[in-house]
Amino acid sequence: MSTEPTHSVLSARDLTRHYEVSRGLFKPRATVRALNGVSFELKAGETLAVVGESGCGKSTLARALTLIEEPTSGSLQIAGHDVTQADRAQRKLLRRDVQMVFQNPYASLNPRRKIGDQLAEPLAINSPLSRSERRERVQAMMQQVGLRPEHYQRYPHMFSGGQRQRIALARAMMLNPKVLVADEPTSALDVSIQAQVLNLFMDLQEQFNAAYVFISHDLAVVRHVADQVLVMYFGSPMEKGPAEEVYTRPLHPYTQVLLAATPSFDANRSISRIRPSGELPSPLDPPSGCPFHGRCPYATERCSAEVPAFRPVGDREVACHYAETLGAPH
Ligand SMILES: Nc1ncnc2c1ncn2[C@@H]1O[C@H](COP(=O)(O)OP(=O)(O)OP(=O)(O)O)[C@@H](O)[C@H]1O
Ligand SMILES: [Mg+2]
Repeated sequence: MSTEPTHSVLSARDLTRHYEVSRGLFKPRATVRALNGVSFELKAGETLAVVGESGCGKSTLARALTLIEEPTSGSLQIAGHDVTQADRAQRKLLRRDVQMVFQNPYASLNPRRKIGDQLAEPLAINSPLSRSERRERVQAMMQQVGLRPEHYQRYPHMFSGGQRQRIALARAMMLNPKVLVADEPTSALDVSIQAQVLNLFMDLQEQFNAAYVFISHDLAVVRHVADQVLVMYFGSPMEKGPAEEVYTRPLHPYTQVLLAATPSFDANRSISRIRPSGELPSPLDPPSGCPFHGRCPYATERCSAEVPAFRPVGDREVACHYAETLGAPH
């Protein structure tokens, strides 16, 4: 696939993260392959949705993208700067360009500090603004995310979950980051306010032109925000492509299964025929061949023997030996 790194604000190449874990006193250490070879290019103002079941490596990817953890291998570029080659000082600067919003906003806010002070903190550390200029900026941002001026003096526990996620988003955007990584930002919220918070994410993206990596286990949530979708299974990319195409004509059996399990997509009858079977494999005992073969309704002997390459199929990439045939209309 042709790529133009100069236009990409975030570029991941074969990002991989393995963890060494202890299995008990007298057993050798084991390797959990949490993330295997994820690549993508993302431009300013674009959103990549990362979807997949629990344990498929979404948060591991988020930690690598936000420089919280170093990848085991692979490379990452932020606005053309290679993070994996950067020294400590450069990494510190790059970290400012990539902000993160977590699932639980309460955990990312300091319970003992006023909201206004917490929002001003990134400016105090990273900008030459005076105290009153910082206050002005914070108040403008608070208004943008739907908070009132008097909220400046309040503490995190005085807000609802939805308001706290607005605060977390405001804090992440204070320094006008190039990239925002949001890890399940609406899944802890009441269904009734999820859409409002999602809309706020999109409003701020338009305003700041940031690239978003939006992580969710729920395909319905990301449908309207995503430009590209990356479907992951067991640490590996299964399918990646333009959102609308992936939603309307999923090529990988796993994407088909995920969509069939999402109630609002069940109307598509050719997809809803497919049901997942079997258990998720154990990360300590990875299956041979395609990681999905044990649960795939179409698996053949080849699938249990040979790992399918993540390869171009039309304008997407798919890791399935039979992507061409399975994608055909049923
Ligand atoms: N620090 C760690 N040490 C060992 N294993 C880890 C570590 N962090 C994650 N893992 C393992 O890596 C795999 C991927 O985990 P990750 O948290 O990235 O999944 P996820 O897709 O975010 O799941 P969820 O939807 O539940 O948040 C899991 O098998 C997990 O147990
Ligand atoms: Mg997670």
